[in-house]
Amino acid sequence: MDDLRATLGRRLDSYRAALFDFLRIPSVSARSEHAADTRRAAEWVRNRMEGSGLEASILETGGHPVALGEWRGAGPDAPTLLIYGHYDVQPPEPLDLWTSPPFEPQVRDGRIYARGAADDKGQLFLHLAALDVMLETRGTLPVNVVVVAEGEEEVGSPNLLPFLERHRDRLAADAVVISDSAMFAPGLPSVLFSLRGLAYTEIRVRSAASDLHSGAYGGPVPNAGTELARILATFHDDRGRIQVPGFYDAVVEWDDETRKGISELPFSEEDFRGGVGARGLTGEAGYTVLERLWIRPTCEVNGLLSGYTGEGAKTVLPAEAMAKVSFRLVPDQDPSTIVEQVRKHVAEVASPSVSVEVVELHGGNPWRARLEGPYFEAARGALQDAFGVEPVLTGEGGSIPIVSDFERVLQAPAILLGFALPGANMHAPDEWFPEAHLEKGIHTLLAFMERVGNPGD
Ligand code: BES
Ligand code: ZN
Repeated sequence: MDDLRATLGRRLDSYRAALFDFLRIPSVSARSEHAADTRRAAEWVRNRMEGSGLEASILETGGHPVALGEWRGAGPDAPTLLIYGHYDVQPPEPLDLWTSPPFEPQVRDGRIYARGAADDKGQLFLHLAALDVMLETRGTLPVNVVVVAEGEEEVGSPNLLPFLERHRDRLAADAVVISDSAMFAPGLPSVLFSLRGLAYTEIRVRSAASDLHSGAYGGPVPNAGTELARILATFHDDRGRIQVPGFYDAVVEWDDETRKGISELPFSEEDFRGGVGARGLTGEAGYTVLERLWIRPTCEVNGLLSGYTGEGAKTVLPAEAMAKVSFRLVPDQDPSTIVEQVRKHVAEVASPSVSVEVVELHGGNPWRARLEGPYFEAARGALQDAFGVEPVLTGEGGSIPIVSDFERVLQAPAILLGFALPGANMHAPDEWFPEAHLEKGIHTLLAFMERVGNPGD
């Protein structure tokens, strides 16, 4: 490891500069005006991998492309790792809440601020840099590697499963390694035992042919805003349970050991409340905050639109109302089944005086890890090597839609070790990644490759 760490130390400044170049590309996958930028980010990844000695190419998917890197010099007897990450980012708005512009990376107080610094360009870059260090130092890797860098994770990976199925032989691997999540706390790394899934819907209500004067028509004519609010109010009971019939049918109860592990993590619900600036916490009665975040499903309004929202007052009866409503899912809930249940529920509770439509936007399956095996052990050992403490096992409330598909199609376990920190502002203004985790993250991934490739050492 000493030779590798010496190279890493020598190259760290140039890695930071390269990461900054990557972060400057506004690869916002959701916005068509950024399609060329998004492709440029894929090419950046391809070029970087090629520069390190991988065979690298851009593969079309029908949407934003995949940057694929391959290195198979370890031979057929060595294990193959599939490294997955995403080069696309969330839209940066609202821009006025950023301290420095989202695509002009800046270091302040030991944090690299930029859209994508944590999610996921910064973390994908750690893998590229680890491969670079290893190949530069030794001219070889102890494992075969396939890198899949996709550009549509933030819009639900709509083209990745077909891509995976089409290329399943080429992508065959013994384990899938992903860094797109956070550690449990500063100085306390973690390996994930779960991710939540997602079913994302848009609910549209129409109550009249056009907006109307609220005095001349209000009373007898239905109001789309009011009717939508009524529908939304039926989703939870007053104990935070979701009232869509059948919603919990497929939920697997977690084992006592996992729940005990969660309860033993160093976590203060009061600090958490203060940290988000809420006056109080909500959610499902009977579960702790971490359980509500990680192992219980949710229903959340993500956006609402109806009527007049400009300056001052306007007396109007809105003819239309729309809500974006998403459901975070846990094993073994299935996104399409959930959307069907929601459709049925909404049709049942909606007033017959309005028309209501539930549109499915995207979804992803939840994922639960098997907490055993050589790759899982190697991840724990590598985190301990780099951070000097034993990692904890944690869940994650966010989603990475393709993870369970990887496991199913490739028949290989996924290992999720993330290097962002809580409060990294993923998807929010002032997203950041700890500057020190550039070195520690690369160190971890080098140690991981060493442990996986040379299990006897
Ligand atoms: N990197 C995140 C997932 C994540 C979020 C991990 C927070 C750890 C902490 C991922 O890129 C993401 O945001 N996924 C989306 C998926 C969706 C658009 C289908 C999510 O969870 O909202
Ligand atoms: Zn991500």
